[in-house]
Amino acid sequence: MLKAENVNVSFGQVRALTNVSIELKEGEIVAIIGANGAGKSSLMRSIMGDVRATSGKITYLDKNLGKMRPHEIVKAGVVYVPEGRQVFAKLSVQDNLEMGAYCRNYSKAELNRHYEEAYTMFPILKDRRKQMAGSLSGGQQQMLALCRGLMSDPKVMLLDEPSLGLAPIIVDEVFETIKSINTRGISVILVEQNAYMALETSARGYVLENGEVILSGPSNELLNNPGVKAAYLGG
Ligand SMILES: Nc1ncnc2c1ncn2[C@@H]1O[C@H](COP(=O)(O)OP(=O)(O)OP(=O)(O)O)[C@@H](O)[C@H]1O
Ligand SMILES: [Mg+2]
Repeated sequence: MLKAENVNVSFGQVRALTNVSIELKEGEIVAIIGANGAGKSSLMRSIMGDVRATSGKITYLDKNLGKMRPHEIVKAGVVYVPEGRQVFAKLSVQDNLEMGAYCRNYSKAELNRHYEEAYTMFPILKDRRKQMAGSLSGGQQQMLALCRGLMSDPKVMLLDEPSLGLAPIIVDEVFETIKSINTRGISVILVEQNAYMALETSARGYVLENGEVILSGPSNELLNNPGVKAAYLGG
């Protein structure tokens, strides 16, 4: 349903992506693993129209995302949950959620229904709905970022390092949440440095190195691949 074909992205002299092709099929969780600076975020941002590919093609269903603006892409059903959560620290929890609905013209009732969905998933967000998002713990901010993404009723979520910097027990909760989001019929691209958890959680995966896809396949095969083990799974 979402395809990037031979995508190239450069920042001035820095080449971030070279002929990257990936595909997400409906209902899947697909992992993109790679080290610092491999180009994972650049790939997500090029899908979202935040950075423009110098060449290549990005399509979602029958739409050419390369020609669409970021808010149009969100409206079409693809949402990005950025690396580092990027919650609006000075806004309340609920106002952060409302920002996630900006591209939809929900009625008051629809907006409230979406808030309640988020609060049912994470009751702590309801308790804290009037507090500034910056006062939440890292794990709570990640849950808020996921819920903010869900506010736009996406069909596809691009999750950029959702486990980064979180304690192991919270990491488990984040990956459980991702699985339950997927069960609701949302397809997911999961970008992670935590290769083990990402491959455990996904059906297929791509390995990105220096801006190139060097390997792809079923996640269970990648988990057993000696090269992947040595480079990303601690031997
Ligand atoms: N806005 C930018 N301006 C200049 N160079 C950039 C910019 N964004 C990314 N880069 C460069 O592009 C390359 C890929 O970076 P990118 O952030 O996509 O990697 P990443 O895989 O997401 O890394 P990380 O795991 O650290 O998040 C790096 O060399 C990075 O320095
Ligand atoms: Mg990144």
